[in-house]
Amino acid sequence: MDILYDCWLAYGKDGSMKWTEKYLRKLCILCSGRVIGSAAKELETAYRRLAGKDPERISEPFSGGCFILRINEGLCAGGYRISVSDDSIVVEGGDENGVLYGVFRFLVLASGGYSPESLNITEKPFFSLRMIDQWDNADGSVERGYSGASIFYEKDRPVSDMKRLTDYARLLSSVGINAICINNVNVHKTETYFITEKFLPDIAKIADAFSDYGIKLYLSVNFAAPMEIDGLPTADPLDEGVINWWKCRAENIYIHIPDFGGFLVKADSENRPGPYSYGRDHAEGANMLAAALKPFGGNVIWRCFVYNCHVDWRDRHTDRAMAAYSNFKPLDGKFADNVYLQIKNGPMDFQIREAVSPLFGAMSDTNCLCEFQITQEYTGQQIDLCYLVPMWKECLDFDTYHSGKGSLVSRNVLGAAGVSNVGSDLCWTGDPLAGANLYGYGRLVFDPGLSAEQIAEEWVRAAVTADNEAAGTICRMLLSSREIYESYTSPLGVGWMVTPHYHYGVDVDGYEYSPWGTYHYSDRNGMGADRTKATGTGYTAQYASHNEEMYEDLSTCPEELLLFFHHLPYTYMLKSGKTLIQHIYDSHFEGSEKAEELLLQWRSLKEKLPAEIYSEAENRFEKQLLNSRQWRDVINTYFFRKSGIDDIHGRKIFR
Ligand code: GCU
Repeated sequence: MDILYDCWLAYGKDGSMKWTEKYLRKLCILCSGRVIGSAAKELETAYRRLAGKDPERISEPFSGGCFILRINEGLCAGGYRISVSDDSIVVEGGDENGVLYGVFRFLVLASGGYSPESLNITEKPFFSLRMIDQWDNADGSVERGYSGASIFYEKDRPVSDMKRLTDYARLLSSVGINAICINNVNVHKTETYFITEKFLPDIAKIADAFSDYGIKLYLSVNFAAPMEIDGLPTADPLDEGVINWWKCRAENIYIHIPDFGGFLVKADSENRPGPYSYGRDHAEGANMLAAALKPFGGNVIWRCFVYNCHVDWRDRHTDRAMAAYSNFKPLDGKFADNVYLQIKNGPMDFQIREAVSPLFGAMSDTNCLCEFQITQEYTGQQIDLCYLVPMWKECLDFDTYHSGKGSLVSRNVLGAAGVSNVGSDLCWTGDPLAGANLYGYGRLVFDPGLSAEQIAEEWVRAAVTADNEAAGTICRMLLSSREIYESYTSPLGVGWMVTPHYHYGVDVDGYEYSPWGTYHYSDRNGMGADRTKATGTGYTAQYASHNEEMYEDLSTCPEELLLFFHHLPYTYMLKSGKTLIQHIYDSHFEGSEKAEELLLQWRSLKEKLPAEIYSEAENRFEKQLLNSRQWRDVINTYFFRKSGIDDIHGRKIFR
């Protein structure tokens, strides 16, 4: 047992599961199948950890304490019920996955020290598709990975030892994940060949390992693959040769992987090939691939992160935030029924604070998914603490008003995809505390009704400590972490003041004159992107009228997004009674003080925490403090120099 490696599956880590031994010693498995086999194996693992021996298999319930697994057709797919009594613990699932989820749920909560009574739970998944996207490359690197190397590939080949991947499948299925795309959306040369004989036998082994845990495998594909692999003269989605090429590929994939999930596609984005090269639209591109997969039950997941990354900063009217809506809204209703559009939570790119994408709710005749970034590209890179569940929840709970009040994003989408934060580090996530985001993503998309607090508490108790006081402190740290990170980085939703390409650390003008379309427009008088219809780019008009009016009007625009929607003078008075510039100074001084408090709070827990977790995270809190000071000083100095306005509290600003 290793507390770092086991994450939230560290059964028996602090004696809190002792009471379950009475049940786990006798397993009565009244259903069968490969996923049920994994559920049974998990119970065996737990018992072995607790009692040091194997449980007994029995064929009929035993009244002196046993653990029963069975299918209950009255429950829905993926749903489960856990019933705890003196005699037995029964986990029933609507299907095999439901049984597995119920088993994990029981074990995770029991090992977090939750009481037996509180474990009588009935749950069902809110979304049918709960997906993880790996941004792993064949050479073993991970795009935007902060946790070591890829666990999927080494030296241009898929790994052959399935141990680590099986443990990953355990972690993912324990929070209800049922699909995984195993390669980067940017499909480079080697990965283009993943859909050929050269790789399929090895990829099939990975698919098999994940199938044992009820997780379907997807591959990211290169839209130009027919040209690159077989030298076809075109990749035009309406060309007969191209259509047949993909059909043959699909047929062959299903020979190797009978339960293959389908393709994930990044097309016409950031220099990737796509249908635009042939004068075709995204529906034509996606539907051609969808037709190839359809006979086998496969899906196409098509990303809406499509924008022009070669814009001219001199042109104040172009607005990258408008791109996804402009590209996809006109195509609503044109996509095949096995196409899902994957929409990033915000219209830009995973900033610490941005508006919710206006595309949600606007595509009423199209299957849509939400895309979240678990890996902390712009949110601290698994150095700075940033618990992201509150941000994702904000998106799922956002009322689009597209079909009147109550049109929440969660009701407009059929599922979610989260960009993974794992790698080969012992603790999987670089910072062991970043495990809360992986756990939290799975839990939230299983049940968007859960609170960020409940999810944090479950995770802390299972993965770190069931000690009430220490767990309480860590939960408070997690729950304040996003605001802390935000307060010393981007003011009021403006975003993008990060070091270009690398995206960690401050560089206020790093993207200001670049072709990426990411501007804050600071001058001597003020700052912010004017996205109003009245005087700006007109982006607000992409929302349903209730939201359009809310954002358009300064008095109703949420303050945390003020500079995302408006260009304002530094002397603009906020509701707090502070000027905009004073808010910038205050939030940056306070943010950095709070980063220091995080470090001190963590240090106060030293005696109560597993040493390995303590030191891995302490090291990061120290770096976070330095990072926050650098942000504070650079931002405050920059805006003092632009505005010439002093901090009313006379704190240290470098002139
Ligand atoms: C961001 C990220 C890229 C990634 C892209 C995407 O821009 O920096 O690394 O490829 O998002 O989501 O496609």
